[in-house]
Amino acid sequence: MAAFQSPQGAPHAAILGIGAYRPSRVIPNADIVEAIDSSDEWIQQRSGIKQRRWATPEETVQLMAVEASRKALASAGIDARQIDCVVVATVSHMLQTPAVATAIAHELGTDQAAAFDISAACAGFCHGVSMAADFVRAGSAGHVLVIGVERLSDLTDVGDRGTAFIFADGAGAAVVGPSDTPGIGPVVWGSDGEQFDLIRQREDWRDVIASGEPVMPHLMMQGNPVFRWASFAMAKIGQQALDRAGIGIDELDVFVPHQANMRIIDAMARSMKLPERVRIARDIAEQGNTSAASIPLALDRMIAEGEARSGDTALLIAFGAGLSYAAQVVTVP
Ligand SMILES: CC(C)(COP(=O)(O)OP(=O)(O)OC[C@H]1O[C@@H](n2cnc3c(N)ncnc32)[C@H](O)[C@@H]1OP(=O)(O)O)[C@@H](O)C(=O)NCCC(=O)NCCS
Repeated sequence: MAAFQSPQGAPHAAILGIGAYRPSRVIPNADIVEAIDSSDEWIQQRSGIKQRRWATPEETVQLMAVEASRKALASAGIDARQIDCVVVATVSHMLQTPAVATAIAHELGTDQAAAFDISAACAGFCHGVSMAADFVRAGSAGHVLVIGVERLSDLTDVGDRGTAFIFADGAGAAVVGPSDTPGIGPVVWGSDGEQFDLIRQREDWRDVIASGEPVMPHLMMQGNPVFRWASFAMAKIGQQALDRAGIGIDELDVFVPHQANMRIIDAMARSMKLPERVRIARDIAEQGNTSAASIPLALDRMIAEGEARSGDTALLIAFGAGLSYAAQVVTVP
């Protein structure tokens, strides 16, 4: 048996920079209520959402991802050519193949990088951060660009009372690279495929074509069971991520849960007994639920507004369709 060399990675990995792109169209609740026989008051009370961002036709998945990535690279202080791997978490790139990651890598000027998409819905960004940390530590990549990007407005039925007010568009990106100290804690992740149908694309594309009525197969959601699952089961996953990182609740500075719904964010914070001083991301009020993009968008806002500071300890937790979830403790870059 031939002996060959094993890859050598960095001792630790960390998030080195964050960037975000918010689409230009601001859609207040008033603009969508008529189609779903709702009201601004109902939407704010049930979800905390005041307005959402929807992309213009020009603001493609690729454009939003590239803009967010350029900001993340600048904030990390590295050149695109130093990126060895681009991981894009999305469910709204409308080509089955190839992955949008290769086009993004090319536009950024990192043609040598490995580039691929992952499909873990709203949990995608935290899956990507976990993979990136492992790649850096194992020596598969020096720097990894992790992008969460969605144009959920393409997949939203504006007449569906259960989803039309929730979903939105945007992109967030993080550069993960080597570090002398641990900057990304152990991931706690998993899935529950028994609940596959709770949030899903309504029909298989082949059934849409066979129906002779090529109507976009929109996203559908059973809101009530999703709400219960996210509010209670996910708080336990967040606690496990803290435990696995060896971080006590009194050492936590920032909580950045997936921006699914303000009531879910509040219920998780209560279940986890987060102290008052822990700053909590509430980007959903202005941005809506952007699935894979929501955590980097929310963290970017907190950094910009001084609510999250470099060196702070943050808990990230993402969850959604699948059902799938992933959580980890990170150091704010
Ligand atoms: C979507 C959600 C806000 C709906 O709230 P809910 O309390 O579960 O709503 P229900 O479907 O049980 O309906 C309750 C009432 O509100 C009404 N309603 C439902 N949607 C409405 C809307 N968009 N506007 C106004 N009224 C609405 C219903 O008709 C019902 O009225 P009734 O009591 O007179 O029969 C809630 O289920 C939720 O937040 N789920 C989680 C969603 C989420 O975060 N998803 C992302 C996960 S990644």
